[in-house]
Amino acid sequence: MRVLITGVTGFAGSHLCDLLLTKEDVEIFGVKRWRSQTENIEHLQSKITLLEGDIRDSTSMREILKKVRPDRIFHLAAQSFVLTSWKLPMEVLETNIMGQLNLLEGVRSLGLDPLIHIAGSSEEYGLVQPEDLPLKEETPLRPLSPYGVSKVVQDLLGFQYFKSYGMRIIRTRGFNHTGPRRGSVFVTSDFAHQISLIEKKRIKPVIRVGNLEAVRDFTDVRDMMRGYWLALEKGEPGEVYNIASGKGIKIREVLDCLLKLSGVEVKIEEDPEKMRPSDVPILIGDSHKFREKSGWRPEIPFEKTLRDILDYWRERI
Ligand code: GDD
Repeated sequence: MRVLITGVTGFAGSHLCDLLLTKEDVEIFGVKRWRSQTENIEHLQSKITLLEGDIRDSTSMREILKKVRPDRIFHLAAQSFVLTSWKLPMEVLETNIMGQLNLLEGVRSLGLDPLIHIAGSSEEYGLVQPEDLPLKEETPLRPLSPYGVSKVVQDLLGFQYFKSYGMRIIRTRGFNHTGPRRGSVFVTSDFAHQISLIEKKRIKPVIRVGNLEAVRDFTDVRDMMRGYWLALEKGEPGEVYNIASGKGIKIREVLDCLLKLSGVEVKIEEDPEKMRPSDVPILIGDSHKFREKSGWRPEIPFEKTLRDILDYWRERI
């Protein structure tokens, strides 16, 4: 089976590679931008084929698709940090929407028929009403960030290409996922990174935070990638599936848990730069539809995930 991954050097892409390397008869091809760091995939680079390209460039995507002729595609490449999307809305919308269009048009124009996974997001739900919780796939999409809007468009484009051209597209809406290799701007890594710096006395014992009142539904990235794989194994083309733990946790509790794991004494300071113009207050997902279809359930407890992230940063500093 020839599997193409866009965004292979990213956090999710690297963990998906780890998983696919445990499967028999899977050949992995990854799209890499010429300037992308390869640190996340250094340990497995010799076991996969890296192809230089960029989802924003239709010519490069067509050439890659022509060469690989994949049986399956995991489309993970995207601008994924929500806060940046208010600062660079054009870049985020263009990368995420046009990037996916280049991929789908490439597949269509070459007459290929791969199974395609589109990685949507719980950010698509945006402004959630209390009666909507936990969020089902039918809950209205009311995104509150340019990033959320870009993911809604990716999601709907996936649906439209399935309907219009019969392309075998399966969409997932992944709730927050984290683990080792998470970029330092995302909340769990952001806190763990600062804590490790404090442990090594590199910075004063002050943690700078954003909105601690937000509630998110976290899954370990390794469980999430198992979900992505199962989505193509067992999912129905044209369908969309939530992948979530079903449990909400306040960001303040995430910080408390990391501090407890470390044992450092710190002062907590709000950083206005980390506040968002409209932060999604609460996201808790209902993933029954996916669990029933695929048999997926999360296995790694959140405390282990946090411990692993902390260890990841400790090794790096
Ligand atoms: N990054 C960050 N840093 N977030 C903070 C901080 C901080 O110091 N303090 C509080 N937060 C809050 C944010 O305001 C947000 O409510 C929550 O912590 C999580 O922030 P992120 O880790 O940046 O993730 P996200 O929820 O915005 O988006 C992530 O999850 C989506 C799925 O719901 C990303 O991975 C997206 O790409 C993904 O689609």
